[in-house]
Amino acid sequence: MANILHINSSPRGERSRSRRLAQEFITTWKALHPDDIITYRDLRESPVPHVTEEWIAADFTPPSALTTELADTLKFSDELVDEFLAAERCVFSVPMYNFSIPSNFKAYIDYIVRIGRTFAIKDGQFEGLAGGRKVLFITARGVEYGAGSPYFGWDCQEPALRRAFEFIGVKDIQFIHANGLDLGDDRQKQGINEAQAEIERLVATW
Ligand SMILES: Cc1cc2nc3c(=O)[nH]c(=O)nc-3n(C[C@H](O)[C@H](O)[C@H](O)COP(=O)(O)O)c2cc1C
Repeated sequence: MANILHINSSPRGERSRSRRLAQEFITTWKALHPDDIITYRDLRESPVPHVTEEWIAADFTPPSALTTELADTLKFSDELVDEFLAAERCVFSVPMYNFSIPSNFKAYIDYIVRIGRTFAIKDGQFEGLAGGRKVLFITARGVEYGAGSPYFGWDCQEPALRRAFEFIGVKDIQFIHANGLDLGDDRQKQGINEAQAEIERLVATW
């Protein structure tokens, strides 16, 4: 039995392709692993605030020196970190926005990359504390990024996500990209079919 954290970040509901693909993964996974516990969070329904000066001050205050007020500032962030660390596997669905990630998922990352909780500084080096879990990103993109595309090399989404989670120690990071979804019906169908084939492959081996 494993704890699976499933987070959707698209601001869109029914129309969201990343949300739909992640649901397909989770539904198939649950059929194969009925005892697993799925914890679901929707950043559209419960957004994560941007960090503030007070939040940063609280984050860098040693826990023993936190005032009640500063501790309160970190409460939601603590909740998100606890939830993340309780999961052996995470399925995050993330649209591509302006070649990177939507600000709500960035705010989520800022809230879980926490000194003393998910990373530490040891002998002048950063050390990730959140290893030992698997993270899968299911993304949706309007255009495509392969060789030959005018946008080849423009993908800052996968590197941004990969680096943030590698920084906190996650080694097993996988991506399923649905590309070309805003390039007309045929390309959209192809992008969805390719992502669904990847889902089918990964859900059996993850
Ligand atoms: C604000 C905004 C910015 C976008 N920027 C990009 C982009 O830089 N590259 C891209 O390939 N698609 C871009 N798109 C298209 C979305 O990635 C695509 O429609 C995707 O399906 C959205 O995810 P969702 O269907 O889960 O909501 C953008 C869409 C929006 C609304």
